[in-house]
Amino acid sequence: MNDTMIQTTGLTRHFTVKKDVVEAVRGLDLHVAEGELVALLGPNGAGKSTTLRMLTTLIPPTSGTATVAGYDVVARQREVRRVIGYIGQGNGAAHAQRGRDELVSQGRAYGMSTRDAKARADELVASLDLAAVADRPVSSLSGGQKRRLDIAMGLIHAPRLLFLDEPSTGLDPQNRANLQEHILKLRAEHGTTIVLTTHYLDEADAMAERVIVVDHGTVIADDTPARLKADHAGDLITLGFGSGGDAGRAAARLSSLSDATVSSGGATVEVRVAGGPRLVPGILRDLDAAGIAVESTAVNRPTLDDVFLNLTGRSLREGVVTTSTEEVAA
Ligand SMILES: Nc1ncnc2c1ncn2[C@@H]1O[C@H](COP(=O)(O)OP(=O)(O)OP(=O)(O)O)[C@@H](O)[C@H]1O
Ligand SMILES: [Mg+2]
Repeated sequence: MNDTMIQTTGLTRHFTVKKDVVEAVRGLDLHVAEGELVALLGPNGAGKSTTLRMLTTLIPPTSGTATVAGYDVVARQREVRRVIGYIGQGNGAAHAQRGRDELVSQGRAYGMSTRDAKARADELVASLDLAAVADRPVSSLSGGQKRRLDIAMGLIHAPRLLFLDEPSTGLDPQNRANLQEHILKLRAEHGTTIVLTTHYLDEADAMAERVIVVDHGTVIADDTPARLKADHAGDLITLGFGSGGDAGRAAARLSSLSDATVSSGGATVEVRVAGGPRLVPGILRDLDAAGIAVESTAVNRPTLDDVFLNLTGRSLREGVVTTSTEEVAA
């Protein structure tokens, strides 16, 4: 399982728009081993889709090289396409054919027998919750239903390598969960290598064993979600006090903690530090000994949102905050 599936070296893509050069991807070096599930994260315009479009042979690189399953994406396009499935960011067939027939034709186009294609289509229709709509014309489906059909199309031939560009955008929570389950199942059953982009950091955290953060066309972090969180964001300890005076005194004492960032506002003190849950008892004892009464304590483990914010200075999804809270008895 340790064979290389994707290797890029200095992968670069420029676009020229009205004489201005947009450097969409700038010298990307990526390595993905066979069987890995990797999430590509980055703000709008970071170069994620452009990278996938080069890896799927849809557009050529401006410079640099990329191989997929050992085949060069420029010189060996046909071989690359045989290995991969690709669900683009904004697909969406809209015509009179029924979804189920569309799936079977797609399977046939990939060389499956009609019988296998039908069996696989039935399986996908069930797991992507398309049963009620698979026999309707594609043109009559809602956005989310079409999206699920697109995904089924990309999965029909159970490719060795699957690229999913924002697969879950536009899906309701139930279908997002179905899709995640299906992707994980596909991987467990076929050892499929999966590269996906998402703006849902909780999804990346739950599914991906490796997260690659891209910004301005280059890789700025590449690690497991757990290590990214440990390296780029601490736990957040929030202490509540009876008065601003107590909070101020507590903040002054806590400022001696090593490698911690302490901030206070009103009757609350926040401490950003690694290994928060282990430090809390000592902090409470110290404050108690100093005669400062703590009224509430909470520890929030870092999320990929915190990592993303620290790395890029931006939150990935405005207004969407994901937290997993571990309450610690005070
Ligand atoms: N065909 C094109 N012509 C001109 N510029 C393009 C083209 N495709 C992409 N770009 C530009 O390249 C940059 C990277 O775009 P890309 O679509 O790869 O970003 P992304 O990371 O997928 O963003 P999003 O999260 O919004 O999908 C952007 O500045 C975009 O405007
Ligand atoms: Mg994109």
